[in-house]
Amino acid sequence: MGRIAEEKIDEIRNRTDIVEVVSSYLPLKHSGVNHQGLCPFHQEKTPSFNVNSARQIFHCFGCGVGGNVFSFLMRMEGMSFPDAVRRLGEKVGVEVEEEAVSPDEIRRREERERIMRINEVAGGFYHQLLLEDEAGVLGRRYLRQRGYEGETVRAFKLGFAPEGWETLAKHLADKNFSSGDVQKAGLVRPGKQDRGHYDLCRNRLLFPIHDLQGQMVAFGGRVLDDSLPKYINSPETAVYHKGQTLYGLYQARDAMRHSGEALVVEGYFDVLALHRAGFSGTVATCGTALTADHARLLKRYADKILLVFDADTAGRKATVRAMDALLPVGLAVSVVAMPVGEDPDSLIKAEGEDGFRNCLDAARPVLEVFIEDQLRINDQSVEGRARAAEQALERIRRLPGDLERSLYLQRLAELTNLDVELLKSKVSGGSLVQASPRRPVAQSLSARRPLTETGQTQKYLLRLMLIDDQQRCRVREEGTEGLFLDDLFRGLADYLLGCENEDGQLPEDLFDASLDEAQQSLLASLKFQEDQQWADNPEKILTDCRLAVSKYLLKQRLKEVGRLEEEARNSNDEAALMQYLRERIEINQKLKKKL
Ligand code: GTP
Ligand code: MN
Repeated sequence: MGRIAEEKIDEIRNRTDIVEVVSSYLPLKHSGVNHQGLCPFHQEKTPSFNVNSARQIFHCFGCGVGGNVFSFLMRMEGMSFPDAVRRLGEKVGVEVEEEAVSPDEIRRREERERIMRINEVAGGFYHQLLLEDEAGVLGRRYLRQRGYEGETVRAFKLGFAPEGWETLAKHLADKNFSSGDVQKAGLVRPGKQDRGHYDLCRNRLLFPIHDLQGQMVAFGGRVLDDSLPKYINSPETAVYHKGQTLYGLYQARDAMRHSGEALVVEGYFDVLALHRAGFSGTVATCGTALTADHARLLKRYADKILLVFDADTAGRKATVRAMDALLPVGLAVSVVAMPVGEDPDSLIKAEGEDGFRNCLDAARPVLEVFIEDQLRINDQSVEGRARAAEQALERIRRLPGDLERSLYLQRLAELTNLDVELLKSKVSGGSLVQASPRRPVAQSLSARRPLTETGQTQKYLLRLMLIDDQQRCRVREEGTEGLFLDDLFRGLADYLLGCENEDGQLPEDLFDASLDEAQQSLLASLKFQEDQQWADNPEKILTDCRLAVSKYLLKQRLKEVGRLEEEARNSNDEAALMQYLRERIEINQKLKKKL
């Protein structure tokens, strides 16, 4: 992918007004120097989402997210940075051509565009047939039988592929698409010998699969009777990757953003059924297991996932795989148990919305359900319980939060009757460092968590770096390692130092695609506080930061010394023992002095 020239990005940003862009998504009201509204990224009743026109940035004091106009679009639309730049470029009339794009890349891109276009035309064609054409009568009848009418059909752009081998192939050929491209789009298959291509779906109800921009990229087609295969799906193409696509996400994401919850179901019809019953934040995977990419995708819109899979072996397997993809990302995951033999679509038909809501209300944390399942599978002997615990520990280890880990260890101890201290040692054994990430996974959460005492101090220093060129220079000379304890803060500090121009000043706009979401949010929150009066003197801030780091290092050493002491005692090494005892006392004195 070629880089977009910096000047272009600047030009687009200069011509864009963040207030206007944000206003096209949510109503904003003047409030002091800012514009305020209800945050689109978390659920709230009183506005804490602020847009600052002078600085062209946004920040939510509720959930902590923030950034510039590009970050806003990326979050809102799930776009990449280049796509956000391009989208805004189109709006303000700045054409974005990129530097150094290889001819191969251009060819690939053009092909992608043709495939997109073909899917769009095919989807429109099938949708029209289902809505009003003679040829669509069977599809309409089938849908009506299952209780689906116009609104759902339109929201999901359902279609109908009529009888006949070449209905779509002919339609697309008439529109001058090459049969090679149509095949690459996955909509036709090559016929035997010198026969032409034939349509992938015939006499099937069609579920178009949309990408996050609402463009159709693939289809799933269901038979109208009991014949097999029940579903035929588009193959993977240049524009469609099943492991990164969720059916219904385009229609579901606003609801997810508002409730913070996402329902994940197995079937296309379940998505329709739940959507129609008012549970709009629902998606299905496209015939694959849930992947880590799916998990990250969902995390953009929700913190909590409700898994609604069938109550059979396949469903339980799918639940475990989903759990393994979702938990490490920091999502809370619960299981909604369906009555045996029912799926959401059939349940709602049988028992109505209330029937489904009852199931939802009885949802239970996935890990708890998993532990119980493991205990059932294994026998009740000590070995059996240990095996079950091992399975559970493997998952608990990967939970990003200390608190969750600790809670689940306790629960596991209760359920298995194993000693909690033993389980604890198993979790930290070998992977102590990863077990308490000071950065990565907790990062996206960190925006919502209250900062620790030293976090606040580090934030002060970052603010200082933003507004005072001289102090920033001092930080550079002293080195960020000695001043910042958390990777998140140190990363931003290093970034700021790297932003300085030749005169040692920071540019007007600091947001850059190289910053991750947590850093962008942090930067926005700092920029929002720039004007506030704050009496702290710079010296004290630097000293406090320095102290925090050295205190941390001393405490680390103290732990180490404790271990060494123990070793020396066990091996009766008197000399070493004395030495460590002395060191421990010294460290404790130092720590006390600093407090
Ligand atoms: P209905 O039976 O019409 O209610 O559809 P459903 O969506 O409930 O189907 P089911 O529970 O049988 O399957 C769940 C999902 O698995 C479907 O939505 C498809 O994505 C996928 N699936 C089911 N059957 C097939 C098949 O024969 N081939 C493929 N490729 N996928 C299938
Ligand atoms: Mn079904």
